Amino acid sequence: MSNIATLEIDGKKYEFPVVVGTENEVAIDIEKLRGETGAITLDPGYKNSGSCQSAITFLDGEQGILRYRGYSIEDLASKSNFLEVSYLLIFGELPTAAELEKFENTIRKYTLVHEEMKNIIDGFPKTAHPMGVLASLTSALTAFNPKSVNVANDKEMYEAVCKTMGKFLVIATWTYRKAMGYPLNYYDNTKGYVENFMQLMFALPTGPYKPNPVVVDALDKLFILHADHEQNCSTSTVRMVGSSHAGLFASISAGVSALWGPLHGGANQAVLEMLEEIQKDGGDADKYLAKAKDKNDPFRLMGFGHRVYKNFDPRAKIIKKAADDVLSSLGVEDPVLNIAKKLEESALQDEYFKSRNLYPNVDFYSGIIYRAMGIPTEMFTVLFAIGRLPGWIAQWKEMRVNKEPIGRPRQVYVGEPHREFKPADKR
Ligand code: SDX
Repeated sequence: MSNIATLEIDGKKYEFPVVVGTENEVAIDIEKLRGETGAITLDPGYKNSGSCQSAITFLDGEQGILRYRGYSIEDLASKSNFLEVSYLLIFGELPTAAELEKFENTIRKYTLVHEEMKNIIDGFPKTAHPMGVLASLTSALTAFNPKSVNVANDKEMYEAVCKTMGKFLVIATWTYRKAMGYPLNYYDNTKGYVENFMQLMFALPTGPYKPNPVVVDALDKLFILHADHEQNCSTSTVRMVGSSHAGLFASISAGVSALWGPLHGGANQAVLEMLEEIQKDGGDADKYLAKAKDKNDPFRLMGFGHRVYKNFDPRAKIIKKAADDVLSSLGVEDPVLNIAKKLEESALQDEYFKSRNLYPNVDFYSGIIYRAMGIPTEMFTVLFAIGRLPGWIAQWKEMRVNKEPIGRPRQVYVGEPHREFKPADKR
């Protein structure tokens, strides 16, 4: 592979360096392109553009490979746990037992959310979507933790990481408690992180609460699978907002808003709503596959397709197996799971989907597990956000520690050329 790329514009040749990554990904470094040629590149949706060099997550869409800091998602999902994977993503190495204990105990230092935050959540109607409430509450955390983190100071950065991990989980569950009209719960520092998610969500003051260990284990695995995914829409948003040196809470809040969209993290909610619609309409999967293929029909097969994976999303494979295990262990018979399997089976044999490399993605099966766990549909994307939080933190930290420049893309102007101002009576 040559380390130089040559570009010819108007008969003039220009050379640009070629960057090759650890996994032999090749990029043309165009940092000097506009200065030397006057031209810029155009790439709607950044399908062909790299925004950064990152050491956090590697994915290969053609091979269906996903690794966090070099460890395969299959290994981490089966052998690790969510807090350990969070530490790995953020600090770059799997923690020793002592490091993991210190991490968990430092998070526990910050699990009390300022009581006045309750005044903010009380301002929302019960019908507000939890993702909108979560984005607002996350940004509001800045008001109660105004000191910006000095990213060059490892201790300050460590504390800010643990504060974010601690407080985000609590406020994420408050969005559900608010919608249900339940009192807001507190983190229990005697319990684990994922077990706390369940008690924060479902414990009621009227009696004891013990989460089902099968559910806690499955959730821990699901959070691992959602923890990072290189430069996806919401992570790129977190990096972009953070590149202006906006704070960590403000940047994460922007990431929550980006994740909310049905083409991104909101797809897990959209999948369940789609499956329920198919079920209500008689369960005819083939009818909906035809709709998804019809260019005149806006219907899309939610949970299918991916910007990068042109093969199976490795996370979808793991979640599909987990769905079977969790439902059988909980003794839940969910007809939408059978509709999902029928949709997948038909789509994988259908020319339209095969020719476009459309496979089930991470969102296709996750909602089915969440529903079996008693999680309400509108909370599905909040769970995605809880899982993705360590990835957002890791990517924000990498961008700031590497002193990357403020993000500011260019454009090609296609509007009106210069024209003289006309007074109102001349228009
Ligand atoms: C996530 O980026 C990440 O890493 C995201 C994520 C993460 O972990 O952060 O993996 C999480 O967001 C997963 C994706 C969840 N979204 C959905 O499930 C929504 C449904 N899927 C799509 O809307 C779509 O597949 C996207 C948005 C995911 C990807 O869209 P692209 O890459 O921009 O592809 P495209 O829209 O250009 O589609 C290419 C072709 C088109 O047909 P033609 O114009 O070539 O004829 O495929 C078709 C599309 O119409 N197509 C679909 C389809 N997805 C693409 N047709 C029917 N159903 C679909 N789901």
